[in-house]
Amino acid sequence: MFSPETYAARRRVLADSVSSGLIVLLGNDQAPMNYAANYYRFRQDGSFLYYGGLDAPGLAITIDADSGKSILYGHDPTMDDVVWEGPLPALVDRAASIGVSTTAPPDALAGTIRQAKVEGRTVHVLPPYRGEQKLKVSELLGVSPKAIEASEELIDAVIAQRLVKSAEEIAELDKAVALTAEMHVLAMRMAHPGRSEQMVAAAMEGVAHAAGGYPSFPIILTRRGEVLHNHATDYVFQQGDLMLTDGGAHAPGSRYAGDVTRVSPVGGRYSDRQSTLYEIVLDAQMQAIDACKPGAPFRDAHMLACRVIAEGLKGVGLMKGDPVEAVAAGAHAMFMPHGLGHAIGLDVHDMEALGEDSVGYDDEFQRSDQFGTAYLRYAKRLEPGNVMTVEPGIYLIGALADMWKSEGKHADFINYNEFDKWRDFGGIRIEDDIVVTGNGCRVLGPSIPKKPDEVEAVVQSGEEAFAAD
Ligand code: GLY
Ligand code: MN
Repeated sequence: MFSPETYAARRRVLADSVSSGLIVLLGNDQAPMNYAANYYRFRQDGSFLYYGGLDAPGLAITIDADSGKSILYGHDPTMDDVVWEGPLPALVDRAASIGVSTTAPPDALAGTIRQAKVEGRTVHVLPPYRGEQKLKVSELLGVSPKAIEASEELIDAVIAQRLVKSAEEIAELDKAVALTAEMHVLAMRMAHPGRSEQMVAAAMEGVAHAAGGYPSFPIILTRRGEVLHNHATDYVFQQGDLMLTDGGAHAPGSRYAGDVTRVSPVGGRYSDRQSTLYEIVLDAQMQAIDACKPGAPFRDAHMLACRVIAEGLKGVGLMKGDPVEAVAAGAHAMFMPHGLGHAIGLDVHDMEALGEDSVGYDDEFQRSDQFGTAYLRYAKRLEPGNVMTVEPGIYLIGALADMWKSEGKHADFINYNEFDKWRDFGGIRIEDDIVVTGNGCRVLGPSIPKKPDEVEAVVQSGEEAFAAD
């Protein structure tokens, strides 16, 4: 957590950016897994964490946009709470830790909202994304869940504020990526025949938990990297496989997120084919990172990475024709069907609950409807303090190639006959998290091995520890 002054200052900025009315920020509640008392790991709402810092269920904050006054709603620990959960802070102490001097029981929130409505004031809410929260907001506002209208003014104000990270937030993001780095280095050391995908994923999760963090999203760990969000199975790695690991940690305490992808050669050495495609993705990623600077549209960095990939694939015979024309036509998307990256912060896809387009697009940039580019989550111009992932990839997706081939799609740019020679290759993605600085950008966290010989060296350093048992 940050200081009470930090949260008070953030709420002041928000109150100043919203013209008038009552701002309501709901924290998350526990989410039952299979019955009420057996719930998933608690995950606080990102906007509540940003303005209210408290990583605990059952809380809400109102901020009066006219007077600037904040109220924290929650209950004091009951004796039952203490018996089952141990000593818990009093509500006033929680409020003090975030610079709030007025507290009220949870039920008082309905009264505050009713009063604001009676006075003809606007009540601003963010879009709820959990079923229980939708019902709660619906009850509070007296409208059906489908009729809830989130406040565009509040959404825009929150996004503008949260997209530009302060120095203390960037320090927490560095910590998140440092923990994420430990997860990936351990995974590389475990990339040996005899280990299953599940064993490696479990070890990565263990690193995050042992440090007081937890994965920022379900870890993607697979031999079949071409399946973009593939999770670990009981598949036992064999010599020569590729192991794609896409995972990150929420930092202990602050909960800022890391999100990194690496691809390791199982057994310690990339084949010639593997290193050829790996080098193309690495070149695309490094050039895209270099293109991230203040004023530069993130979409340009995306397009640059796609061109580097198309040029590289032409070099190996999978694509043909002019790479610039191929990318303009969308042919590259058979191999790179997703966007270059996304904003990252307290949410791994930062603020996506507030609307992907509201975060990544503006009056200058509209979302493309072309397959591939349509998945670009963020297009607009970068500014200092923006934190983004940069994660290009090359994927050999048999079903997609078969469909496009049968349709004769982009036959001028894709060598479908050559594809069959690569059909079982899998996929490669390389991902880092960057912060835009005054004149360029910096990769967050410690350097995580990514040049082929660096990754091979880490994999090989684990062989003795992991090969025999
Ligand atoms: N790293 C997973 C994702 O961004 O969707
Ligand atoms: Mn990502």
